[in-house]
Amino acid sequence: MRFLEDKEVVLGVSGGIAAYRAADLCRLLGQEGARVQVIMTQKAQEFITPLTLGSLTGQPVLTEMFQPLNPRPYHIDVARKAQLFLIAPATANVIARLAAGMADDLLTATALAVDCPRLLAPAMNANMYKNPAVQENLALLSRRGWVIVEPEEGPLLSGAVGKGRLARLEKILAYCRRSLAPKDYEGLKVLVTAGGTREPLDPVRYIGNYSSGKMGHALAQAAWERGAQVTLVTASQLPVPYGVEAVWVETAGEMKREVEERFPHVHIVIKAAAVGDFTPDSVHSQKIKRKGGEWNLRLVPTPDILAALGRNKSYQIVVGFAAETENMVENALKKLREKGLDMIVANDVSSPEGGFGSDYNKVTIITSEGYREELPLLPKLEVAHAVLNAIITLSRFRSLASRKEE
Ligand code: PMT
Repeated sequence: MRFLEDKEVVLGVSGGIAAYRAADLCRLLGQEGARVQVIMTQKAQEFITPLTLGSLTGQPVLTEMFQPLNPRPYHIDVARKAQLFLIAPATANVIARLAAGMADDLLTATALAVDCPRLLAPAMNANMYKNPAVQENLALLSRRGWVIVEPEEGPLLSGAVGKGRLARLEKILAYCRRSLAPKDYEGLKVLVTAGGTREPLDPVRYIGNYSSGKMGHALAQAAWERGAQVTLVTASQLPVPYGVEAVWVETAGEMKREVEERFPHVHIVIKAAAVGDFTPDSVHSQKIKRKGGEWNLRLVPTPDILAALGRNKSYQIVVGFAAETENMVENALKKLREKGLDMIVANDVSSPEGGFGSDYNKVTIITSEGYREELPLLPKLEVAHAVLNAIITLSRFRSLASRKEE
């Protein structure tokens, strides 16, 4: 699901040094399929030219409320079409004018006229940012429904280090996607596991698997975009999607502890992690040396985290993945039943295009009610959304079925 595809995004650019980053933002929004209409304040044009941003979006940049050849005020026309309104960077001055409800230029007038999700990414000197005047204005705007994409800590133009740098563009984009996504996971707490666990043998060696964590991280991102509060218990080194709370683990034992601690407080668990099935019976404290002979390992089974969740669940929906190289559906169905799951995502990991490490995956979704959906090879983010769709359908079906029984 590309939530920005074919959407009319109005990007307001105000006058701070971070205005130059609006160029990349225009490009990235365009890559996600959005049509971008830029409005620049007068001061923004001193940092970057309208020609630059207009060339990147393919649309003339608007700077004035009225133009001699267009007697209609632009702010009403632009506001009527806008499906997302984003100001990045937003200076302290623009934030103050928005909070005061002023309409003294095209940007602030349009901000008052839009009827769509509104986002604001502040960027300024750290002292300015923490000034109570700015903070109170932001709090007021947030109460009025603006989503604030907080700036980041780091070196600022002044040479000082502090909070005030424009948020990373990936983060701004993630918030844009979340603003346009369906809100079907709002109010839900989702726990996702990702990556391949590692079972240490000695300080330099471990037993692991090829899981990169891409599938689990995509699920966490998709659930957050759809409004969920997401915790990701991950054994992967991949960057954590924005908005998602991450808990890093290494071994199956650590994953079990972190998952079980959180399980009573979540509504949905999706276990995309490839958990090691065996662990060495002992870990050597020093590096094991080659002595010319064999090294025989004794492995003991790890606890089956998912099966324990399936046994202990009450209201939660528990979803497992099944990585299979043969008899995919039969083996997945067996896991669904034996582990007491609500849903299993059968994953053909023998195919070279999908499965471990790939950006794509080919799965069949199966529920305990007998619903089955075979998906084609898709990017992992799309697989993630399909899994989330199936979970919502399952929970709606169950609440309907229970109402029928009453
Ligand atoms: O990470 P990527 O590179 O993106 O690859 C994605 C993936 C192929 C790892 C993922 O899509 C996938 O299939 N994950 C499940 C891998 C797996 O361990 O499958 P399994 O059939 O061995 O286990 C079945 C289920 O039991 C899984 O949900 C697993 O998390 C869980 N399990 C397994 C063993 C164990 N000790 N505890 C568990 O909870």
